[in-house]
Amino acid sequence: MTDNPFARYARLHARSLSDPEGFWGEAARQVDWIEPAKKIFDPSMGIYGRWFAGAVVNTCYNALDRHVAGGRAGQLALIHDSPLTSTVTKFTYAELLDEVRTLAAVMQDFGVTKGDRVIIYMPMVPEAVIAMLACARIGAIHSVVFGGFASKELAVRIDDAQPKLVLSASCGLEPGRIVTYKPLLDEAIRLARSKPQACIILQRPQQVCDLVTGRDHDWSELRAKAVAAKKSADCVPVLATDPLYILYTSGTTGVPKGVVRDNGGHLVALKWSMSNLYGIEPGEVWWSGSDIGWVVGHSYIVYAPLFHGATSVMYEGKPIGTPDAGAFWRVISEHDVVSLFTAPTAFRAIRKEDPDGKLLRKYDLSKFRTLFLAGERADPPTVEWAEAQLQRPVIDHWWQTETGWCIAGNPVGIGLLPVKHGSPTVPMPGYKVEVVDEAAKPLPANKTGSIVIKLPLPPCALPTLWNQDERCREAYFSEFPGYYKTADAGYLDEDGYVFVMGRTDDIINVAGHRLSTGGMEEILASHPDVAECAVLGIRDPIKGEVPCGFLVLKAGVDKASSEIERDVIALVRDKVGPVAAFKLAITVPRLPKTRSGKILRGTIKKIADGDEWSMPATIEDSRVLDEIKAALQGRV
Ligand code: COA
Ligand code: AMP
Repeated sequence: MTDNPFARYARLHARSLSDPEGFWGEAARQVDWIEPAKKIFDPSMGIYGRWFAGAVVNTCYNALDRHVAGGRAGQLALIHDSPLTSTVTKFTYAELLDEVRTLAAVMQDFGVTKGDRVIIYMPMVPEAVIAMLACARIGAIHSVVFGGFASKELAVRIDDAQPKLVLSASCGLEPGRIVTYKPLLDEAIRLARSKPQACIILQRPQQVCDLVTGRDHDWSELRAKAVAAKKSADCVPVLATDPLYILYTSGTTGVPKGVVRDNGGHLVALKWSMSNLYGIEPGEVWWSGSDIGWVVGHSYIVYAPLFHGATSVMYEGKPIGTPDAGAFWRVISEHDVVSLFTAPTAFRAIRKEDPDGKLLRKYDLSKFRTLFLAGERADPPTVEWAEAQLQRPVIDHWWQTETGWCIAGNPVGIGLLPVKHGSPTVPMPGYKVEVVDEAAKPLPANKTGSIVIKLPLPPCALPTLWNQDERCREAYFSEFPGYYKTADAGYLDEDGYVFVMGRTDDIINVAGHRLSTGGMEEILASHPDVAECAVLGIRDPIKGEVPCGFLVLKAGVDKASSEIERDVIALVRDKVGPVAAFKLAITVPRLPKTRSGKILRGTIKKIADGDEWSMPATIEDSRVLDEIKAALQGRV
């Protein structure tokens, strides 16, 4: 047998499918268990079986204590780099452990125990990481809500998770603007039916906020008191199958799905990925340029690098404008980063500002080895540009919040496979990726269809949705029995490379942020003057896609349509948050529909994107498309 990287990969992947318990049982040796699993995989548990059944573990112990005990106490665990505050703050493993122990003890004083939920609504500050790890330490289930979401989105999550505590901050920072978190939090708690017992608020010097007497507590004061009283929480043993966190992600309606991540599978898969997929050695500096509010931030800013004994960079800034398009290169060179993981949108933005890479050449990138991209399709021109500038491998890999780690990637640690632009390469261990038609029949190579994954999913993938087993079954496991439905469309080529081309549902990807157009439509439809609407993602040179709303107004509305368009834009910003990037609403006389009344979103999108399109045979009235074309003139 030849031992080229592809053969090595193929053997490993085949073994993960033929002997999953052997494969993941071996990977599990890299984790410190309090009690080992009774069964590596128990097919009788949960919706499709559970990994590491009966094992007892603590995630925080594996992220911090084991490294402090094992000789990494003085090594940096976290580097917080904030061009927005012009500060760099560093924590060794011992320092981070001290902070986590203290905050965990503070939370215990509020009565938080194993299984309680804690919502973390915070900007990109080290305290957010400390809060996540403190929850993990005491077996509390954290739910981080992205700071770019507004009150209503936060309220929905509070109602679903029913947290005992909310941890937040006075403000977040965006270039040129302070995001006042506290009014958003207060409004969310007002809207929510389920009220948290208390809030712990980090006062940031850029803008302090008022605290609600009896409910809100000052983070620094609580910390200082706990330090003075030498309070410190020990790790609480939990089952591998107990939830570590809930992360809400866009569903097909305005109600987000609470993806549950368990402790054991998460530990095993993420630890495996650091060396085998990303090729990182313990002690090296790794940077995931995401936000802790997204799954990539959970897995690769916080957990995986710490499980691995690496140093993680947390960046409070943007790829451009903080202060320029050299920001990423500055961070890489200043902190000796060996690999960066970010979204393609960031590179499109850098490329636009610095097409010749002049800023890149100002910095010493000699330690830098690999760029990883995910979160949206990595378009070949962006990948080619990044390769040419960096002269290093640029690796696209495919992910979902639901899986918590990579589905298809290029396992650099096992051996770099040939890169095919437009493909995130090959399935990772445990993922049997297939492409099927609507009748669940497998399609031949290079034929586009629904991408599905044969059950069981590997460790780390969602066991269920929070308190919603039925919704989970229906959303992911019912359409293609025996398979997980990714809701992505694409194909496999003759070498088994995966090509992911887009979603099969109404989810769009805006600057790497996953958003539901269905959710936005619900908001537009709530406007008193709107009779009907459709929101779809249209092509954007930087963000990949941006939402565009089409409005049909009620008869007899006497307001100018431009005023209503402004209203609905403000409404989406207010209800979803600025991250929706909803800046385009267009009034049209009618929406194109099929004879059975379905809005022809695909055709509208093609017209808006300037792509070739053909008249749908089922269209009710073809003249509507001319009206759409006319309405789009000069607007996109
Ligand atoms: N809190 C409050 N507001 C936030 C926010 C946060 N944490 N994050 C983003 N926003 C706001 C932005 O300020 C912006 O507001 P604006 O409409 O007033 O300008 C809006 O939400 C849209 O944000 P975003 O889509 O991130 O665009 P941007 O203009 O801030 O920057 C790029 C976009 C071009 C720099 C983009 O390339 C980028 O890097 N996006 C982040 C990619 C990412 O991390 N994806 C995660 C998956 S890996
Ligand atoms: P999220 O759950 O926010 O990580 O978004 C997941 C979705 O983003 C996937 O279902 C895909 O549609 C898209 N996505 C993520 N990574 C990639 C990639 N490398 N290539 C194509 N699409 C991707």
